[in-house]
Amino acid sequence: MEPPALHRIEHIAATHNAIRPKGHCDLSRNVSVTIPNNPIDVPTAATAAFIASNVPIAGTIVEIGCGSGHVAAELSKRGYAVAGVESDREAVSRARELDVNVIEGSWPDVDVERANAVVFTRSLHHISRLPEAIAGVRDVLLPRGTVLVEDFAFDEASSDAINWFLTVVESRQGRALISHSAGSFVTQLHTADDPVSAWHQDHDHDLHTFAEMTHEIGKFFAIRDTQHVPYLYRYLVPVLPETPEAAVFVREVYDEESQFGKSGEFSLTGRRIVAVDDTRSV
Ligand SMILES: C[S@@+](CC[C@H](N)C(=O)[O-])C[C@H]1O[C@@H](n2cnc3c(N)ncnc32)[C@H](O)[C@@H]1O
Repeated sequence: MEPPALHRIEHIAATHNAIRPKGHCDLSRNVSVTIPNNPIDVPTAATAAFIASNVPIAGTIVEIGCGSGHVAAELSKRGYAVAGVESDREAVSRARELDVNVIEGSWPDVDVERANAVVFTRSLHHISRLPEAIAGVRDVLLPRGTVLVEDFAFDEASSDAINWFLTVVESRQGRALISHSAGSFVTQLHTADDPVSAWHQDHDHDLHTFAEMTHEIGKFFAIRDTQHVPYLYRYLVPVLPETPEAAVFVREVYDEESQFGKSGEFSLTGRRIVAVDDTRSV
């Protein structure tokens, strides 16, 4: 009998046997028990877990570039006191609909209360004044506080990773679920003659590289950890319907990206930094 369409990414069998790690034959084993309801739940859970594992329970967090507020709302549910900072008015409105406490303004030109952690969630590569953005964290962080960065190394994305992502987009589930549109990045990649060039054309301008971000953070803080994590799966979220089926697809893609990263088939594009202010006593 044909397996349910969303319990297996068909493109693996069709096009990726060559790079499938030995013994990795049942993708559904990697999907954890909690079923997400909506595609955005998958990256939100991953980012919130990263933050929660580095901030004391019930601690205070400033999230810079909180966007529509999903991560902040999830952290609030977990008992943290979160203030979001966001420069885009529409995103501010959406975050407030989720009851997120958002300060509208452009970091570092905003006043916020001091906190145990300052978190940049996929925002730091955009913030034009990188040195001031990092220096400003010192004024907000409580002694012994933590700086967390969730971001990506766009310039280090490998052609193997980009080509893998395209096989996901073109898989049976991808074709069934993705709504292509002219303005979407997934559609640009999907229709490009040379997807690797299209990736670089879209990213190689006005964004900070991960090396630049790491360098700037290292000037003020002690970097305790950097991690390579799945990232490309995130691009699916805006082109999928807000359904549990689409959410399961995103989670399977997340699991597969993670698996291929671990087995060394391609390097992962997502990056995280954990840094602490160890220069001031409590
Ligand atoms: C790629 S989105 C990420 C949104 C959300 N954190 C997430 O992970 O989905 C980057 C966000 O950072 C915001 N942003 C960029 N520069 C900013 C700045 N200087 N101050 C505050 N927000 C900023 C943008 O408006 C955008 O909402």
